[in-house]
Amino acid sequence: MTSHELREKYLKFFQARGHKVIPSAPLIPEGDSSTLFIGSGMQPLVPYLLGEKHPDGTKLVNSQKSFRAEDIEEVGDNRHTTFFEMLGNWSLGDYWKKDQLAWFFEFLTNKETGVGLPADRLYVSVFVGDPENNIPRDEESPAIWQNLFETGGIPAPIVELITEEKGSEEGMQEGRIFYYGAKKNWWSRTGVPANMPVGEPGGPDSEVFYDFGTPHDPKFGKNCHPNCDCGRFLEIGNSVFMEYVKTERGFEKLKQQNVDFGGGLERLAAASNNDPDIFEVDVLKGVFDALRKNYSWDYGSVEIDQKSRMRIVADHVRAAVFMIGDGVLPSNKERGYVLRRLLRRSIFNAYKFAPGFSNLYPLVRVVTDIYNDAYPELSQQTKKIQEVFEAEEMKFMETLERGEKEIEKRIKEHNGLSGKDAFDLFQTFGYPLELTKEVAESRGYLHIGLLQGFEVELEKYKEKHRKLSQTASSGMFKGGLVDHEPQTIKHHTAHHLLLAALRQVLGSHVLQRGSNVSSERLRIDFSHPEKMTKEQLEQAEKIVNQKISENLEVKREEMPKAEAEKSGALAEFGAKYGEVVSVYSIYNKDGSVFSREFCGGPHVAHTGELGQFKIKKEEAVSAGVRRIKATTI
Ligand code: SER
Repeated sequence: MTSHELREKYLKFFQARGHKVIPSAPLIPEGDSSTLFIGSGMQPLVPYLLGEKHPDGTKLVNSQKSFRAEDIEEVGDNRHTTFFEMLGNWSLGDYWKKDQLAWFFEFLTNKETGVGLPADRLYVSVFVGDPENNIPRDEESPAIWQNLFETGGIPAPIVELITEEKGSEEGMQEGRIFYYGAKKNWWSRTGVPANMPVGEPGGPDSEVFYDFGTPHDPKFGKNCHPNCDCGRFLEIGNSVFMEYVKTERGFEKLKQQNVDFGGGLERLAAASNNDPDIFEVDVLKGVFDALRKNYSWDYGSVEIDQKSRMRIVADHVRAAVFMIGDGVLPSNKERGYVLRRLLRRSIFNAYKFAPGFSNLYPLVRVVTDIYNDAYPELSQQTKKIQEVFEAEEMKFMETLERGEKEIEKRIKEHNGLSGKDAFDLFQTFGYPLELTKEVAESRGYLHIGLLQGFEVELEKYKEKHRKLSQTASSGMFKGGLVDHEPQTIKHHTAHHLLLAALRQVLGSHVLQRGSNVSSERLRIDFSHPEKMTKEQLEQAEKIVNQKISENLEVKREEMPKAEAEKSGALAEFGAKYGEVVSVYSIYNKDGSVFSREFCGGPHVAHTGELGQFKIKKEEAVSAGVRRIKATTI
């Protein structure tokens, strides 16, 4: 089955079961700073999972464009891609486990209405519970699964594996249904319960794996089991039973029981082809066909390391096309930087290793043509996307030339090449290590010290970067200002006062969803389902001005993250923090806390330093998220 057929079939299947088809949201999240890109189908739907009414009702289905930057380095094997489409169906407080699991099982196994996979190739996992967080074991899902399999004549014993280590130790034990812990069978945008910020929804999940029947590779553990990474099993769908939200008091039930299902389109297509290489699926194969035709780079006959280069090129080119189509341009920060990396990695792999390769941009049309039916808006932008590719290609070629000059200079000066040289070339000149290695080898300068030295420098750099990015992420999400002008700092403190005031006026569902502070104004995005009334705005403004006139103390403390969470410090929705965090509190005159937030600072010492606080504008950012712009003069 082609992925286009599969996408259509899935949408129709759920449409016939009362679901409304909704379009894919763009790859760039709106009003949600938890990730740079949309990485799963549920992300644009968070406000509705939290209880807001969706205009299309309580049963939804779609195929969502997704991108996972954390997988860039993984691309090259037969199943990792950075860009993918996620098929999703949702119950917003509507149907629950029984319908979801039965429908998905039917879609997977029925030849007419679905994919027609043999049921005995399917294995499932379920959640064992998390006593520490008071989240019970899922007893319902295994019973439903057992019934579905046994009705189809397939015995379905239940096995407790809990961890990957135990899985590798004990193996399949002829099981069909496997209990695992939170690392594998709990889903939230930020992972396991302990890593979730207050306000984040999550829930136990049940995954389905397809068994390709390939032999177990002991490199990945003693025995094989569904969550083993050896390649025999591929996860093809995940039903999340999203019924919890993390609160300051621990986990509580959401207003409604939601189903959030997600399945990788190409993974499902790979299972339907019974071929574990997802790059053999039509959409990616189309890129390979072009590479063979235009550059005689033949996926079917090249060596395995060439194969992984071709996968990198195909994956990265496709991801870059979609990203540029959604408005991202190459730059040195955030999304633009991710795009630049994708382009450079694909250019590098293609130039260096495909004989006869001249430029990459003709592949843009190949991708937009492949996706013309599902994403016609992409085809319309082909020319623009090609131009971005071409310009970046030229820039990168210059980088390579500069790097080549520098490497010659260093070889002469140092009479050889050190690890530090290799790292400088990479870090300062953008010159890839692989090329340095090649030059070094051809001159007889390649030695183990060069590679080890490079690793040492890289680790040092990463450590520095980790620290910086912790500050930067607190910058992105919570102040941690880059600009330390006095007026910007004042706006930053006013930002904290305003968030606390909004929670007083509107309620504790108000959480920060994004922020931006400059010398001109402060901007806060926060969760709130409706437009604020004039009275509410006046009230919030009044509270902030009152706190300014009281000249309250602003105090910074460092503490372990868990302690900060316990103390009720507010974190931005979805933001990630290090183990030790900096917390800013504004104390009322009676010593009680008016505001307390995870924050990198800086702030004024006393609120009296701020001028008159004024709200300039209140508007919508996206469903369930409002934005206020304000100043202190
Ligand atoms: N949100 C879940 C996932 O991304 C299911 O859609 O796996």
